Amino acid sequence: MNLQVAKAKGSLIYDPKGKKHIDFLGGAGVGNLGWGLEEIEMTIRNSERPSYVYPHFYYKPWTDLAEQLAAITPEHLTTSFRATGGSEAVDGALQMAMMYTGRKKVLSIEGSYHGNTFGALSVGTSSNGEKFHNLLPGFEKIKPPLNEKSLREIEEKLKGNEYAAFIMEPVIINLGVVIPEEKFMEKLDRLCKEHGTLLIMDEAITGFFRTGKFFASEHYNIKPDIMCLAKAISSGYAGMGAVMTTDKIAKAVEGKIGLYSSYGWHPVGTDAAIATINYLLNNTEELLDNIETVGRIFREELPKITFREEPEIRIKGLAIAVDVKDEGYASEIKEKAVEHGLLMNTEGSSLSFLPALNIDTETVLEGLKLLKKVVD
Ligand SMILES: Cc1ncc(COP(=O)(O)O)c(C=O)c1O
Repeated sequence: MNLQVAKAKGSLIYDPKGKKHIDFLGGAGVGNLGWGLEEIEMTIRNSERPSYVYPHFYYKPWTDLAEQLAAITPEHLTTSFRATGGSEAVDGALQMAMMYTGRKKVLSIEGSYHGNTFGALSVGTSSNGEKFHNLLPGFEKIKPPLNEKSLREIEEKLKGNEYAAFIMEPVIINLGVVIPEEKFMEKLDRLCKEHGTLLIMDEAITGFFRTGKFFASEHYNIKPDIMCLAKAISSGYAGMGAVMTTDKIAKAVEGKIGLYSSYGWHPVGTDAAIATINYLLNNTEELLDNIETVGRIFREELPKITFREEPEIRIKGLAIAVDVKDEGYASEIKEKAVEHGLLMNTEGSSLSFLPALNIDTETVLEGLKLLKKVVD
């Protein structure tokens, strides 16, 4: 996508010539609160933080953030490990699971994306292996659709008690908002528990209200052992990530793995994350109302657009995918949309929209009007 960004405010992005673009892309899940939100900007500007903190020294705001994260994630996830982003959080989660279980094998969903480090690429789509002449050994994939058949396949694999972890996004945004059924997730959780396999929920994009809950894992009656957080955690102000786990797992791996990273929870990112979480906590009701209103607009307006084929529309909160059934066609729409001043992503044959959770309805309607114009 050929766009040079000069300025970003709210849900609008401007190029150096001042041309306006409506942002339905949201930095692929970073900009849940849009860009340059006053409350976060002011906190960062007015903070008296040091310019850097060495990871092995103590920095009090780390404790504040860790306490906030423990309070907002499911109750049993009490402990956080510092990371600089999603890939590092996924790698850390895999290391943690391997160290805790003493096992090396990992299961994930075919075609998924979990980041760009070798660990994250290894749990991502199998075509990564072709690119790099194989990745980590013992990493296997379950092919969607996620149904009874795949549960039987998972059970067959897990029953040998050899797998350290099963990792997935609770709503698979990177496959075009695939929404697993509750009974699939609950059985998966049960199978993992039965066979000593840790369940890792990668909430890098799905976290921080993207799908209408603080974390998408909360849509199901499951108890993930590890949760990966990133992206919207710091609203785009600095690289940040976190691996959340239980007290028991944290104590067992403490001192055995060190998710050391020079920039892990840099003071700017820490300030941004604390300010982001405060904002989310102070504005939960308004944000949830807006997610519902904007979601309804997308549900009502998208079917009025005449795509080449009847599309499949999948929406959870403000994670929105329009499967136009042809990858080339989806890319064509995305590229043409930029020229018309509308930004989106594609996942395979799906158009993918991750608008800010606080986007106003006028901007949403303007964006959808542009989409209609592009498609027509
Ligand atoms: C589900 C998921 N996990 C991990 C990552 C990697 O995050 P980062 O780009 O911060 O390394 C991404 C990035 O798109 C992602 O979508």
